[in-house]
Amino acid sequence: MWWLLIQSAQANTFMPPAATAIAEQVDSLYAFLLWASFISCVLVIGGFVYFALKYKRKSEADKTAYISHNNFLEFLWSFIPFVIFMGVFVWGWVIYSQMRSFPEDALEVSVLGQKWNWAFEYKNGRKSAGVLVVPENTPIKLVMTSKDVLHSFYIPAFRVKQDLIPGRYTALWFNSKYKGEFQIFCTEYCGDQHSGMLATAKVVSSEEFDEWLGNDPYKGLAMDEIGQKIYATRCAVCHQTSDQRLVGPGFKGLFGKEHMMESGEMVVADENYIRESILNPNAKIVKGYPKGQMPTFAGQLDEQEIMGIIEYIKTLK
Ligand code: CUA
Repeated sequence: MWWLLIQSAQANTFMPPAATAIAEQVDSLYAFLLWASFISCVLVIGGFVYFALKYKRKSEADKTAYISHNNFLEFLWSFIPFVIFMGVFVWGWVIYSQMRSFPEDALEVSVLGQKWNWAFEYKNGRKSAGVLVVPENTPIKLVMTSKDVLHSFYIPAFRVKQDLIPGRYTALWFNSKYKGEFQIFCTEYCGDQHSGMLATAKVVSSEEFDEWLGNDPYKGLAMDEIGQKIYATRCAVCHQTSDQRLVGPGFKGLFGKEHMMESGEMVVADENYIRESILNPNAKIVKGYPKGQMPTFAGQLDEQEIMGIIEYIKTLK
């Protein structure tokens, strides 16, 4: 009976697709809790209404006998919920311990969260920003840390979520049964563009993954195209391609113009200025912008990538 209800709850689900075995178990537990709560609610509220009507006082003389207690009933309404709660506790504990027991053969990927993007790095040095590419039917372990503040890495379709803490490593693992693209969110409020701190988990076949892993991500791309790619995953949360301010200044028409700094100094936005703004953003702050908003990308972008971004900004006239 319970299992039928759980199955039907899963079939008519309002949950995101369940792409891992653990996700299905989480959904079963959730469906159980939902139905147990619903049935309890009907019993309690239904009983309440039924007794209120049945034992409604009908005349002045209609007085209910004084009832002090009933051991058997009291035992039942304490013991039955206790058994259900303990069952839910053990059920949840079994699923949780699976989530926290890392398979030894897992493929490890390191994750760096920072305001406001996700960067991934594989054992062979292959880097990826904004897209986590992993093979299907393979346990994946993410070893994660944050560069600035607390973030939280969440893939709803895998039902896994873990905080990232600056100066410390945390981890989670999953094993997707399906190929496809799954949304990654940040679920710890981390400032202005928290809701824009998104990425995609792209699950592919193991052949496609091996090919991707060995690929030069910028092969055949012109410098400004490399820059555009990086812009989309690392810069777009804060900088628009128009001349409008978002968090930081828009990129359109930025290159080659003179800008007034907080210090009153006038600075031309040339290659060196943009490079410095990427690597050491607090060195010069444009007037009207708060200090410390832009994180440094030192150590995350190599020379080719920095030049790419500069070339891309040049194209935005
Ligand atoms: Cu990172 Cu919210």
